[in-house]
Amino acid sequence: MKIRKETAEDIEAVFKINISAFPNEEEAQLVNRLRETVSPLISLVAEGEQEIIGHILFTPVTLDSDTNLFLMGLAPMAVNPPAQNKGIGSQLVRAGLEECRALGAVGAVVLGHPEYYLRFGFSPSMNFGIKPKYDVPREVFMVLELSPHVFADKEGVISYHPAFAGL
Ligand SMILES: CC(C)(COP(=O)(O)OP(=O)(O)OC[C@H]1O[C@@H](n2cnc3c(N)ncnc32)[C@H](O)[C@@H]1OP(=O)(O)O)[C@@H](O)C(=O)NCCC(=O)NCCS
Repeated sequence: MKIRKETAEDIEAVFKINISAFPNEEEAQLVNRLRETVSPLISLVAEGEQEIIGHILFTPVTLDSDTNLFLMGLAPMAVNPPAQNKGIGSQLVRAGLEECRALGAVGAVVLGHPEYYLRFGFSPSMNFGIKPKYDVPREVFMVLELSPHVFADKEGVISYHPAFAGL
């Protein structure tokens, strides 16, 4: 299995992976929308022996009190159900965070299952003065400092790209 950047030839396979992993097409459509409208964008695929088996996307997010901070948000990510629980998702997250660092992002955020994302160094944003724009349980919005102490003195509200509206 290899993690690599998505190419134009992968777009259909990425769509299918998102459909297979989520209950409906919303995430698959969202990925297509973001690909057309957002820059920079980190889109990585996990390639098995014969086909794409996983996908992860990172897009810029905004902290309202410091809009110059370069932060990336992880969403969505999907692994083909038969290939789940074999560490592929974890490899996608780690490779994606490396790409975020390489691009110069100073932090990353994710809205997801706390037990899963803790292992990559994410911690609940409520440990800092950071909140999500969305009405979600406090512990599911998590942040990771890619540059030391970047959230230490920060307060504010983080929002994803407007293309996420309606998800
Ligand atoms: C979330 C997902 C991408 C993880 O991919 P994966 O390749 O199965 O992940 P890994 O094998 O690296 O890690 C598996 C671990 O994640 C945990 N995990 C997976 N889904 C979870 C969930 N919904 N809640 C909590 N933990 C979860 C598993 O219990 C397992 O834990 P363990 O390592 O302690 O045994 C995959 O399960 C998936 O596609 N899910 C459906 C889509 C989704 O929910 N995406 C995330 C939101 S954008």
